Amino acid sequence: MTVQKTQVAIIGGGPSGLLLSQLLHRKGIDSIVLERQSRGYVLGRIRAGVLEHGFVNLMREAGCGERMDAEGEVHEGFYIAHQGRNDRIDLEKYADGATVMVYGQTEVTRDLYAARDAMDGVVIHEAANVQPHDLKSDSPYVTYEKDGSEHRIDCDFIVGADGFHGVSRKSIPGDVLKEYEKVYPFGWLGILSETKPVSPELIYARHERGFALCSMRSQVLSRYYIQVPLTDKPEDWSDDAFWAELKSRLPEDVAAGLETGPSIEKSIAPLRSFVAEPMRYGNLFLAGDAAHIVPPTGAKGLNSAASDIYYLYHGFMDHYLNGDSAGLDGYSEKALARVWKAERFSWWMTNLLHLFPDAQEVDQRLQCTDLDYLFSSDAAQASLAENYVGLPY
Ligand code: FAD
Ligand code: DHB
Repeated sequence: MTVQKTQVAIIGGGPSGLLLSQLLHRKGIDSIVLERQSRGYVLGRIRAGVLEHGFVNLMREAGCGERMDAEGEVHEGFYIAHQGRNDRIDLEKYADGATVMVYGQTEVTRDLYAARDAMDGVVIHEAANVQPHDLKSDSPYVTYEKDGSEHRIDCDFIVGADGFHGVSRKSIPGDVLKEYEKVYPFGWLGILSETKPVSPELIYARHERGFALCSMRSQVLSRYYIQVPLTDKPEDWSDDAFWAELKSRLPEDVAAGLETGPSIEKSIAPLRSFVAEPMRYGNLFLAGDAAHIVPPTGAKGLNSAASDIYYLYHGFMDHYLNGDSAGLDGYSEKALARVWKAERFSWWMTNLLHLFPDAQEVDQRLQCTDLDYLFSSDAAQASLAENYVGLPY
C-alpha cells in the first residue's frame, strides 16, 4: 500500500471538490481530490446553468473567472409565464443591482480542471472503493484503490464533496445524522439543442399541462425542460413529441418563435428536497450535494454547494493561516442556516409552478392567486429577486 500525505483530503471531483481544492491551493493549503469517475464522465454531465453573483465572485477569487466573464451571459431578469401572460421579474431593480450569470456547470467544471492542471493540483480519477477512516481522531485518513493496488492518504481533515450518492455522508453514524427528505411526484425531462434560445432571458412557465422552463447555455445552445411523470423514460420522448409538449405549455406568441432542432442530450432528473444535519462529524466536513439536495426550480443546487465551499474555505484559512478554529467549529451551523433558506425558496418555487397529480381546484386557484399577488406587489417581487440572485454568504 502506498501512503500519501496532505492537509485536506477531498472526496469527490465535482464542482464543490474542485473549487475548494483550487481556492485552498492559492492560499498555500495542500489538498488531494479523489474522484470515482473519469474526467470525461464528469464533464459529460449536463446540469446547472445559472450562477448566483456570490458564486461568480468565488470563481474569480479562485482565478477561474476569465472565460466565465468573457463567455457567460449576465442576466438582469427572468420571466414567469402564467395564465396566458409572460411577466418579468426585474432582478436588477429588486435586488439592489445584483444579477445572475448564465454559464453552464460543465463549463465551470472545465475551467476548474484547467486551473487545477495549471497549478499541478492533484486530482486522482477512477479512484475505487474510497473510504474515510478515524473521523473522530486528529489523524483521519482515506483509503482507495486504483489500477488494482491499494492506497492511503493521511490528512488533517476530510471533506465529503461526493454528491448525494457518495460514501462520506454514509460514514456518519445513524444516531448522529438526522436526514430530512421529500420526494416530489414528477421529474424534469431536459434537452439540449443547438438552436437559438426562444427568449433572451429565462422563462419559467406554469401551465395546466405542467411546468416548463426555457433556459440556455449560449446564444446558439438552448436548454429546455418539461415536467413529466416519474414513470416516463427519456426514450419515451421523441424530439418532436418534446417540442410539441413544450410549445403547448408556453404563451402562444412565445411558442410561435420557438426554434426547434435535434436534441444533443436528453435526460430526466427526479426532484427532491433533502438536508442532512449536522454537516460536520469529527474531522469530516460535508459539502454540496453530499449534504443537501433541492428541486431544481430556482437553480439553487450548484449555488448552495458554492456557499458551503465559501464557508469551508474561510474556515480552513482561519485554521491554517491564523490558528483560529472558530470558522471550522461554526461551519455546520452557518452552512445549514443558508442551506435551509435555499431549500425553502426551491420548495416554494416548485409548489408555485408545478402541476401536482393530487391537486384540487382550490390548489390551482391558490397557485394563480400566489402569482397574481407576486406581480401586484413590489415586496413580493423583491423577496423573489433577493433569493434568486442569492442570499448573502
Ligand atoms: P456532484 O456534482 O454530484 O459531484 C460529486 C462528485 O463526487 C461526482 O463527480 C461523483 O462522481 C463523485 N463521487 C461520488 N461518490 C464518490 C466516491 N465514493 N468516491 C469518490 N468520488 C465520488 N442544479 C441546478 O442548480 N440546476 C440544474 O438544472 C440542475 N440539474 C441537475 C441535474 C441532475 C441530473 C443532477 C444530479 C443535479 C442537478 N443539479 C442542478 C444540481 C447540481 O448539479 C448540483 O447541486 C451540483 O453538481 C453539486 O455539486 P457537488 O460537487 O456537490 O456534487
Ligand atoms: C437551469 C436549471 C434550473 O433549475 C433553473 O432554475 C434555471 C436554469 C438550466 O439548466 O439552465
